[in-house]
Amino acid sequence: MKAVILSGGSGQRLAPLTHTTTKQLLPIANKPTLFHILDLIKEETPIKEVAIVVSEDYGHQVKEKITNSEYNGYFKFDFVFQDKPLGLAHAVQITSMHIGYDPFLMFLGDILIDKGELKKAYEMFVKNKPETLVLVKEIDDPRPYGIAEVEDGKVTKLVEKPQNPKSNLCLSGIYFFQSSIFYAIANIKPSYRGELEITDAIDFQISLNKIVEPYVIKSWWFDIGTPENMLKGNEVILNNLPASVNSKLDSSVKITGKVVIEQHVIIEDSEITGPVIIARNSYIKGCKIGPYVSLGENVYLQNTKIENSIIRENTKIKDFSGTISDSVIGRNAEFSFGTNGKSKTKLVIGDETKCILL
Ligand code: DAU
Repeated sequence: MKAVILSGGSGQRLAPLTHTTTKQLLPIANKPTLFHILDLIKEETPIKEVAIVVSEDYGHQVKEKITNSEYNGYFKFDFVFQDKPLGLAHAVQITSMHIGYDPFLMFLGDILIDKGELKKAYEMFVKNKPETLVLVKEIDDPRPYGIAEVEDGKVTKLVEKPQNPKSNLCLSGIYFFQSSIFYAIANIKPSYRGELEITDAIDFQISLNKIVEPYVIKSWWFDIGTPENMLKGNEVILNNLPASVNSKLDSSVKITGKVVIEQHVIIEDSEITGPVIIARNSYIKGCKIGPYVSLGENVYLQNTKIENSIIRENTKIKDFSGTISDSVIGRNAEFSFGTNGKSKTKLVIGDETKCILL
């Protein structure tokens, strides 16, 4: 079996963070979502060959990041450039040369899911051999997603972003296919939004009486397509990281809860409340950090309070007079300013942003 990971698309709901990078590379607990996905595929399936669909804009960034990673060597990667985001089925279609006649896993590159679920779904697909297996998750309001209608344990219809959903089983963005999906894709037309929809291709299979089975995800699952969801993903992954402290800390640092502190981190006169991850070479003085904070490499923080936030590498924050909360801050950003007594500030700040109080 092979895998296709979709890492193209435009990521508009994450602007300005996606003006300089693609959403699948944005870090969650200091690791790109794409890498969290590769960890799962490596640990929970026997798959060794992965085709990654990338956009013209950021394809080279994704290719470089993966080529220089620990995954290169374990997996054999093919990078497939998609000129325009013409839909999930289009993205799959352009990988057909790489997949051939093998069954395959399709994983949207902006999805995080708890450990164990992929393994169970893979086993179900191998045992039952349906034409398609879709991983679904029961949620309260599935309108922003695709949904699956299910009867007697079989999927009877899929609808993309329904106004009046007849089911609360949302399509998770993880699917197992037999190679016959390429025939189905060849038989569908672009939707009203001009995209070749994978939901239409699976519906075509259902119209031919092919078996499409649901696998219901029991544990947590997130699409990291918005800053709020990135932070939810950050929270669950931080909760599951084993604690480790690899820098020397003195008595001016108060630590409570679970923390991951990498090498060459200097912390002075600060309180760290886990779960928190602090990457190498960071400097923290006079700060309150946590819970649920991920700090990238070489971050500089002074006299600042931060909770439930992702701060990317090389960012510098000084004398921030409120609490930075529920925020995602890009690379190489620099700011120092007050909040006029407002107790919490939510920020979504792109790479290289500078905002200095003079
Ligand atoms: O998050 C789950 C949802 O993902 C499903 O419930 C929907 O049925 C499915 O259509 C999809 O909806 P989204 O609106 O979230 O799709 P998005 O445009 O964000 O694209 C999902 C991933 O696929 C993302 O990593 C970008 C990539 N992609 C997307 C398109 C349209 C491509 O690589 N090429 C494309 O042409």
